[in-house]
Amino acid sequence: MKQKNVEVLPDKAALIKRSLEVVLAKIQAAIQERDLCTIALAGGGTPKPLYEALAAQELPWAKIHIFWGDERYVPADHADSNQRMARQAWLDQVDLPAGNIHPMPTDGGNPATDADKHEAQLNEFFSTGSGKFPQFDIILLGIGDDAHTASLFPQTDALQVQDRLVTVGNKDGQPRITFTASLINQAHCVIFLVAGASKREALAQIFAPDADALTYPARLIQPQGELWWLLDLEAGQELKN
Ligand code: 6PG
Repeated sequence: MKQKNVEVLPDKAALIKRSLEVVLAKIQAAIQERDLCTIALAGGGTPKPLYEALAAQELPWAKIHIFWGDERYVPADHADSNQRMARQAWLDQVDLPAGNIHPMPTDGGNPATDADKHEAQLNEFFSTGSGKFPQFDIILLGIGDDAHTASLFPQTDALQVQDRLVTVGNKDGQPRITFTASLINQAHCVIFLVAGASKREALAQIFAPDADALTYPARLIQPQGELWWLLDLEAGQELKN
């Protein structure tokens, strides 16, 4: 890992403000280095205000490509869809070319087939495959109260998948499509956004010197690039050094 940054911000608003600063800096760095930025979005509720703030930015949208780190296995217009949330909060508000948005397919009727389809889409976009993994510029993540991240849930098969980019996650029997920990760990920069007291115990286990990663899956995320943990005080109180 290049560097690990842990910042505890006073409240959710400060967390979002800081997250925007970091994300904008990483987008700019990627475009300076590669004339392109590939960013995979987190789902759930925490990042929504960040996406709304990004919608107000003047950015070279044609050079920015949007992916998702995980997706609920529902139609793209379903209330639970991570794609729908990001489009409403951000992507539909800016001049992003339609071809720059790469959603996880959830319409093939079979999660495993759609996971394979997205894996092929990623390998085609990044010109990777046969063991070479794509390197995203930025991957945004959250954690659940159970220390899951993306759709890598505790004690599920998805945690053991190391030779794939995309696999099928399982939340209480509900299928998800998710990046594998192996793919996430190839990223140039991984940024966790965590807010709320309900995440405190999960963070304690994630940051503990040793705990079982199969029980606390966010521990699996040890990227070769930069790792950022951006927390509000409610979540990160115990970690404030
Ligand atoms: C999802 C997310 C998931 C999320 C955490 C935190 O599809 O739900 O990708 O990993 O980041 O569950 O969700 P909140 O931000 O809503 O607490």
